[in-house]
Amino acid sequence: MTAPSPPAPPPDGFVDLWPTKLLGRRLPEFEAPNDALIKLIRDLERANRNLTTDYLAPDFFNLDEPPVAWLRGQVNATVIDYLRAIGIDYDVSWTIQGWPNVNRLGDYHDAHNHPGAYLSGSYYAKVPNKREPMRNRDDLRPSHITFYDPRPGINMTAIKGDPYVDPEYTVLPEPGLLMIWPAFLNHFIHPNLSKDTRVSVSFNIVLKWQDHYLPHQ
Ligand SMILES: [Fe+2]
Repeated sequence: MTAPSPPAPPPDGFVDLWPTKLLGRRLPEFEAPNDALIKLIRDLERANRNLTTDYLAPDFFNLDEPPVAWLRGQVNATVIDYLRAIGIDYDVSWTIQGWPNVNRLGDYHDAHNHPGAYLSGSYYAKVPNKREPMRNRDDLRPSHITFYDPRPGINMTAIKGDPYVDPEYTVLPEPGLLMIWPAFLNHFIHPNLSKDTRVSVSFNIVLKWQDHYLPHQ
C-alpha cells in the first residue's frame, strides 16, 4: 500500500479541470496507401456484405496487408503522441482493435462510445463532400462526425464567450485524416446523403494492463 498523499495546497491562479483531449492528424503522403486501403476494404466487403456491422469479423489490424501495416504504424505513432500530450511519460502497451466502415446513401451510426477501450479513433479514407439533390432541411451535416460534451447539461448556464456554450463539436473529416479521442466520448456519425460511399476504419486502443498504470491517489 502506498502512503496517502499530503493534502494539496489550494491554487494561486488558474486551474484547467477535466480536460477532454482530441487529436486530429493529417497523415503525410497518404494518397497511395489510402488507395490500397480502399481497394482492400472493397475486396473484404465483397466477401462479407455485412462488413460494417459484423463486429465479430476478423480484426482488421491483424490482416497481413501493406496498407494495414501502414495504418497500424500511423495509429501507433499517433497514440504515443497523444499519451505524451496528456502527461503519460512512462511505458504503456496496447493492442489496436479495428474494423472498416462503409456508409452508403442514408447510412449513419447513432450516438455511442466504445466501452472496454482506453482511446478510440478513426481513419478516414473516403468522405463525400456533396449530397444528392433531395429536399431536406438545410441544417443537415451529412457525413460529419459530432462529439458530445461528456458532462451532460454543462452548457445550460453558459453565456457568450465562455468555453461551455456549445455541447457538441462537429467536423467533416477528409481523406487522410486520423483522429483519436478518449473512448468514453460519445459521438454520432451523420447520415451519408451521397451515392458515393463514406469509408473509414475505426479502432479501439485497448491497454495491456500493467500495475504501474495505477494512479497515486
Ligand atoms: Fe465510434
